[in-house]
Amino acid sequence: MKNNKLNLLFTAVLALLMFTGCSNKENENKTVTSGSVSFDEVLATRRSVRSYDPSKTITKEEVKELLIATQEAPSWANQQPSKYYVAMSPEKVAAVQELVGERNKQNIAGAPVLIVSTFEKGKSGFFRGEQTNEIGDGWGAYDNGLSNAYFILKARAKGFDTLIMGMRDSDSLRSLFNIPENEVIMAVISLGYRADEPRQPEHRPLDEVVQFF
Ligand SMILES: Cc1cc2nc3c(=O)[nH]c(=O)nc-3n(C[C@H](O)[C@H](O)[C@H](O)COP(=O)(O)O)c2cc1C
Repeated sequence: MKNNKLNLLFTAVLALLMFTGCSNKENENKTVTSGSVSFDEVLATRRSVRSYDPSKTITKEEVKELLIATQEAPSWANQQPSKYYVAMSPEKVAAVQELVGERNKQNIAGAPVLIVSTFEKGKSGFFRGEQTNEIGDGWGAYDNGLSNAYFILKARAKGFDTLIMGMRDSDSLRSLFNIPENEVIMAVISLGYRADEPRQPEHRPLDEVVQFF
């Protein structure tokens, strides 16, 4: 009788272990996910957002998590030339809003965070101070774009929205954030929560832009 009870207990523990083991395996297989959002869903729902919900805020820790994701981006000889200047205080955000042109200013009203991305010159595309090929510092811009791509995709995976802005007053941004002359100022990126569903852009047909050989 006692043996029967022990057997039963043993079987129950074994079943529990097997069950939890199985469900862990299942989770292991879902490697391409961030939280509950699949990578394809991140790609499909990431859009340039031009209307933000002003009632929602973002913490410094949340922004840091997105910036940590940029450190996973590849860069020329691992030079990591990208740098970020993050405006989070209402005063700084208001100052940056003035430096992205009137249309962008209206579109990013309500976004609680504005980020300036730059890259250090003479790193990517260079070896021992010499330009490696005809692209030169263009490779710094390339790396910065990659880094920013990681940022906006990670942002979407965490439920945030972004707008990359190439229309910006780089001289005034340089003064505002005291950005050294050896850095090229690239984009301003707004970060917030969408207020409306963004419009879907048209994409060129693949056979117009790709050639297989
Ligand atoms: C380098 C770069 C600069 C951009 N500059 C602006 C800008 O100043 N203002 C704006 O509204 N959108 C800007 N965009 C967003 C593009 O218009 C947008 O990515 C494109 O229309 C495709 O839409 P989607 O991002 O929703 O897929 C920029 C995008 C990139 C990559």
